[in-house]
This record gives sequence, C-alpha cells and structure tokens, in this order.
Amino acid sequence: MDALHALHSRTSVNLLTTPGPTSEQLDAIVRAGLRACDHANLRPWRFLLIEGDARAKFGDLMVKVKEEMEGARISAEAAEKLKCKPMRAPSILVVAAKISKHEKVPEVEQVLSAGASAQMMMTAAHALGIGAIWRSGSLMFQSTMRAGLGLDENDQIVGFIYLGTPKILKPAPNLDPVDYLTHWS
Ligand SMILES: Cc1cc2nc3c(=O)[nH]c(=O)nc-3n(C[C@H](O)[C@H](O)[C@H](O)COP(=O)(O)O)c2cc1C
Repeated sequence: MDALHALHSRTSVNLLTTPGPTSEQLDAIVRAGLRACDHANLRPWRFLLIEGDARAKFGDLMVKVKEEMEGARISAEAAEKLKCKPMRAPSILVVAAKISKHEKVPEVEQVLSAGASAQMMMTAAHALGIGAIWRSGSLMFQSTMRAGLGLDENDQIVGFIYLGTPKILKPAPNLDPVDYLTHWS
C-alpha cells in the first residue's frame, strides 16, 4: 500500500481473529516502530510480544493487578471478564518507554517517542492488511503490571497493540484538516 494512502486510511479494528501476523509481518511492523522520532537517539522504546498461551498468563497478571488496585479479591465473574481481554487478538504488542535520565530529553519526550513508535506500528500493520487497535486502561499504569511484564519501575507502558485478522473493517472518518489547522501569524 502506498505510504500516504496507509496514513490517510488507517482505522482501528476492534474485532480481530486468527491468524495473527507472521514473523515476517511482525518484523516489518517493529521495524516501522524503530523509525519513530527520537530525541538524542535514546531509542526509548521496548516491545513485548504476547502470543498463544502467554495471553492467558497476561490475563492472570491483569487480575492480580486489578485485585491489588482494589485491595481485595474481585468476583469470579470480574476475573473471568479480565482474563478474556487478552484473548481478543492472537497477538499483543506491549509498547513501553524505557526511561533514562538525560539532561536534554525529559521523561515526557521519551514517552512521546514510545507513543510515536506505537503509532508507526499501527500504520505499518494497516499497510500490511493486519487489523490493529491500541488499547490501554488503568492497569497499564500500575507498578505490579510493569514488574509482571519484566519492566523496570520507572519504565512507562504506553499501550497494548492488539493485532490480528480483521473481522470487520470500518471506513476512515471524513475529517477535514481545516477543523484542526490554524495559520498562526
Ligand atoms: C493512548 C491511547 C489509548 C487508547 N486506549 C484505548 C482502550 O483502552 N480501549 C479502546 O477501545 N480504545 C482505546 N484507544 C482508542 C483506539 O485505539 C482508537 O484510536 C479509537 O477507537 C479511534 O478509532 P480509529 O483509530 O479508527 O480512529 C486508545 C488510543 C490511544 C491513542
């Protein structure tokens, strides 16, 4: 797909099924993430791929984090609902910012760069015909989630990119740059 067409037509796909991206497609997607803008070449992004049985383990981690946030056990029904979340796609890419101290690059810029890498990967997936949706939620900001995923305490998860074969495609909304662009003088 032509690059501009991919940029202009990308939409999120929330209903995903198997198959997930092949290893070649994942490689192409991650390579796109590596071309995000990056102040001082810190390469502040880290990607974790969760597939197959690891999704169930991720669901268990979600329950653990939720219970810690609530300070109590959650109901069996609520736990089941959480455990089903990672099963909504064959592949999940966790995108995190690996934060380091830098005299010129504050933390927010490192998080922005990781976010930019997520967006690059979203568009690359779309260009390859792979459905993707960027998900988040309060669990993402918890220390136990970071630890459970093997991240450092000062890292920041910026999103969970769910990837798979689209069940339904929606058209891109008809947005007009005029509504968002002002000529300042
Ligand atoms: C940082 C971030 C977090 C998001 N978290 C969620 C989420 O948890 N659940 C969700 O359904 N959509 C979430 N979204 C929105 C979707 O990824 C998507 O952009 C939105 O549904 C609009 O669809 P579109 O991308 O096709 O325009 C998030 C988007 C961003 C940028």
